[in-house]
Amino acid sequence: MNKPIVLIGIMGCGKTSIGYKLSYALSKSFFDTDDELVKKTGVTIRDIFDIEGEAGFRKREVNMLGNIIKLNNIVLATGGGIVLEEDNRKLLKELGFVIYLKSSIDCLYDRLKDSKNRPLLANVSDKKQALADILAIREPLYLECADVVIDVSYKDSYAVVDQIKETLSNVKNY
Ligand code: S3P
Repeated sequence: MNKPIVLIGIMGCGKTSIGYKLSYALSKSFFDTDDELVKKTGVTIRDIFDIEGEAGFRKREVNMLGNIIKLNNIVLATGGGIVLEEDNRKLLKELGFVIYLKSSIDCLYDRLKDSKNRPLLANVSDKKQALADILAIREPLYLECADVVIDVSYKDSYAVVDQIKETLSNVKNY
């Protein structure tokens, strides 16, 4: 089966780095919705948020997912908020083999506490609480879309790739 393998999960869970390594291990092409938006617009994700607001970013994200998810034989890393739009959830469930990379708040906080590239954490005083609040809203949506859930908290990305490969080998048609 050539269905796209789509990685979802909150920012900082490792979608991009795990996705890139997974694509290499499976000899598939790698895409990342945020990277494609940066390539297409020529500006950073932060710039898009600054200029067009979150609503403008979400519209672009919907269009980008709609284009990429039709490609075969790919691994696709998505932005953490991709599941917020109903259209995206429908596309993910219909066309993707969706893997939710689940992480503890402590692990996410350790990875993101110094990050300057996450607009949603840019102006908050308590990043850990902000991550917990975001996850509380999104967790049911990640679970709604997921074919498989993998706990990635404090795990080495190569170990996660091995775990995903093992999981895929047990999935019919993969
Ligand atoms: C977002 C996550 C980011 C990026 C944008 C919005 C979110 O992607 O799409 O800043 O809403 O959680 P990562 O999950 O790759 O950080």
